[in-house]
Amino acid sequence: MKKKILGALLSTMMAASLLVGCSGGGNSSNNDGSQASNNETDESKTDESKKDESGSGNIVGVAMPTKDLQRWNQDGENMEKQLKDAGYEVNIQYASNDISTQVSQIENMISGGAKVLVIASIDGDSLGTVLAQAKEANIPVIAYDRLIMNSDAVSYYATFDNYMVGKKQGEYIEEKLDLKNAKGPFNIEIFTGDPGDNNARFFYGGAMDILKPYIDKGTLVVKSKQVDFDNVATANWATETAQSRMDAIISSNYADGTKLDAVLCSNDSTALGVTNSLEANYTGEWPIITGQDCDVANVKNMIEGKQSMSIFKDTRDLATQTVKMVDAIMKGSEAPVNDTTTYDNGTGVIPSYLCEPVFADKDNYKKLLIDSGYYTEDQLK
Ligand code: BGC
Repeated sequence: MKKKILGALLSTMMAASLLVGCSGGGNSSNNDGSQASNNETDESKTDESKKDESGSGNIVGVAMPTKDLQRWNQDGENMEKQLKDAGYEVNIQYASNDISTQVSQIENMISGGAKVLVIASIDGDSLGTVLAQAKEANIPVIAYDRLIMNSDAVSYYATFDNYMVGKKQGEYIEEKLDLKNAKGPFNIEIFTGDPGDNNARFFYGGAMDILKPYIDKGTLVVKSKQVDFDNVATANWATETAQSRMDAIISSNYADGTKLDAVLCSNDSTALGVTNSLEANYTGEWPIITGQDCDVANVKNMIEGKQSMSIFKDTRDLATQTVKMVDAIMKGSEAPVNDTTTYDNGTGVIPSYLCEPVFADKDNYKKLLIDSGYYTEDQLK
């Protein structure tokens, strides 16, 4: 009976949140797109003064993976601004992509009195012990963008529809090569993300559900023969790692002028590595290259014709949705979700809110990125 009531409550909330959609409304912040600083010792920002003054203790701990990638800086800035606008104190930390740093940052948030934790994990499988402490202290956890695996301390998950990200990348290649009609064969290579990031498997899965049938039929050919997830994963999503793998692929398969028609890249940091490698080593006709995040460097490449598309995930909207979750939790109610089936973290399905990703390319980037105030025109010059 209790379950039924909860179910009914959840579906009402899902319907309500679907109506609202994932648009941020007026609560947006500026994205200066500034390049990431490597000085991660400067990254901790706890608003101690405010905490002491107000004594209200409505602190939200926000753990971000790194400042090395533009997107996490934007996520962090948006979260901090929107949480503060909603009246919360914010303890935001970036962990230089180092798991033990992230664990100790979360420990400090717990001992510092955080009431809710919002965590974009570095490795989804490494937070079990520290999150058991959070659970013990009755601190709800929202997994932000990346699902935290195998921990029953996770209450909610706020993200973009990760499967749809991959599907849109696959469909882009399908459409541009006219795979439904053309015989090919076309040559393609595949780059996805970090194996410890649960998202990477969704991106890969979404894209491969579109592309794999064409590989099986022979319309698409992967000359490197690197197709399985483990063979195409990129540790830490590192640009340099993608670049050196592409160097090796080109020298073994495309150095003789063989045409490469497309490169599926799950995100912009890997697309950047692939692009750098092609620029240095490949002399044939430029391939289709996909990406994700609309990082400034990649949008510039898109404008110059070096990257074909990127998936735009408006981090302002994700922050808005996450702040709604925080608010609901703080008020003791259920948070708005729109998916209660997809994301099982090993302890059960985590109620999720999935924002909608869209694709950006040369033709629509002005409307999506500049008119919406995400970037200024100058940033993209
Ligand atoms: C995010 C992507 C990002 C990647 C690398 C993923 O979990 O969803 O937007 O490009 O991590 O940071």
